[in-house]
Amino acid sequence: MRLLIKNGTVVTAADQYRADILIDKEVVAAILRPGSTAGADEVVDAAGKLIFPGAIDVHTHFDMPFGGTVTADDFRSGTRAAAAGGTTCIIDYAIQARGGSLQAALDAWHERAAGKCAVDYGFHTAVTDLNEAVLAEMPSLIEKGYPSFKLFMAYKGALQVDDATLFRVLRLAGTSGGLVMVHAENGDVIDVLTREMIARGAVEPLYHALSRPPLAEAEAVNRFIALARLAGVPGYVVHLSDAGALSLVAEARAAGAPIFAETCPQYLFLSMDRYEEPDFQGAKYVMSPPLREKGNEVHLWRGLAAGTLQTVASDHCSFNWRGQKELGRGDFTKIPNGAPGVETRVKLLYAGGVGEGRISLQKFVDLVSTAPARLFGLFPRKGTVSVGSDADLVVFDPEAEFTITRAGQAQNVDYNPFEGFTGRGVPEKVFCRGKLVAEQGRFTGEDGHGRFQPRTPFRLL
Ligand code: URP
Ligand code: ZN
Ligand code: ZN
Repeated sequence: MRLLIKNGTVVTAADQYRADILIDKEVVAAILRPGSTAGADEVVDAAGKLIFPGAIDVHTHFDMPFGGTVTADDFRSGTRAAAAGGTTCIIDYAIQARGGSLQAALDAWHERAAGKCAVDYGFHTAVTDLNEAVLAEMPSLIEKGYPSFKLFMAYKGALQVDDATLFRVLRLAGTSGGLVMVHAENGDVIDVLTREMIARGAVEPLYHALSRPPLAEAEAVNRFIALARLAGVPGYVVHLSDAGALSLVAEARAAGAPIFAETCPQYLFLSMDRYEEPDFQGAKYVMSPPLREKGNEVHLWRGLAAGTLQTVASDHCSFNWRGQKELGRGDFTKIPNGAPGVETRVKLLYAGGVGEGRISLQKFVDLVSTAPARLFGLFPRKGTVSVGSDADLVVFDPEAEFTITRAGQAQNVDYNPFEGFTGRGVPEKVFCRGKLVAEQGRFTGEDGHGRFQPRTPFRLL
């Protein structure tokens, strides 16, 4: 089956040009002069539309047990929502159980995803309990297509690791073709502050944010950068939220250290005042790191434009407000951390970034697709539009208007943190390896179409 997408403007991280794209089976077979005649079984007219590579979300949590409950989205609803929003590949986290192996974690997460995914997927491995056997697993996992490892510097008593663990993983993984990612917040300090707040009756959602101040993030980012430099390896900071932490990344990069960082739409569009919404509505925004003071986001936007931040991921981790977030009424520590966003990431970044003149079209494509593909071993199979690449393509209408609502979403959760946000720029048609998986923001694909994507070891591209 050959499909021709005609008359569109192809946008990559490097350029933009008018072309027709011929898809044969699952890959881009040819990029042709506009108007050329190619024998195709089906033609899509993309006049007036942009065509960019399918977006890649390198930070999701589907079907994840966390905070005494399980995320509202599983791999079925989560990847349907990804497709609806223009994302054709996600990378989720397989989390090591205490005493378990990394392979056992990957097996468990493969089981959760098998047969359910509407778009392609991969896994990072989260290391929570290090020992010699776990260290010994890492080189072979890198070779098998799992080149990224995540460690948590926060969530004391649950997922948090100490500096020795972090350093040992950095040194071994980083010299074997792995990339170490961290959740950077000082979990010990947060634990002290949290206990003090609860003891004095400061239990509302706002105190979640106050117990996790910006300096707790900056300190951890500083320590992580130092440990990565001591080990002489690259490092990646997930969901960076704070301007102070950002300047530490900028400083390290200026000194030539291969430090990379991601931010998320919630830190670009929402601020800390949300925690004060009445009737426990503030719990919807309880995530870690927390939302920051208004004005902080200006620095993050500049960091995106300047290249200090390389990726924008969603950190999609959805919990229903009713019955799940509500677990923390009367004690903010019991509110499961996280918020949905896999469906809205692309349109928010386009509207708020390109639409508002904060980033170029090429930078937008780089942030949502190309840089994630390069950093996480998917490039050039994914992350660009070129002959031989997977036909993961978004036909994007830059003029179409959107309003984000809970009622209109594919995400299986009872609220949307961006409710009422409006803008221009909507994925009109989304193809994942040549298959139409979404149209006009609605999922039209098939559960199980998504395929596991083994990834290549990390290298600087
Ligand atoms: O609050 C968040 N971010 N929940 C998801 C888990 C994590 O820390 O990434
Ligand atoms: Zn995290
Ligand atoms: Zn996360």
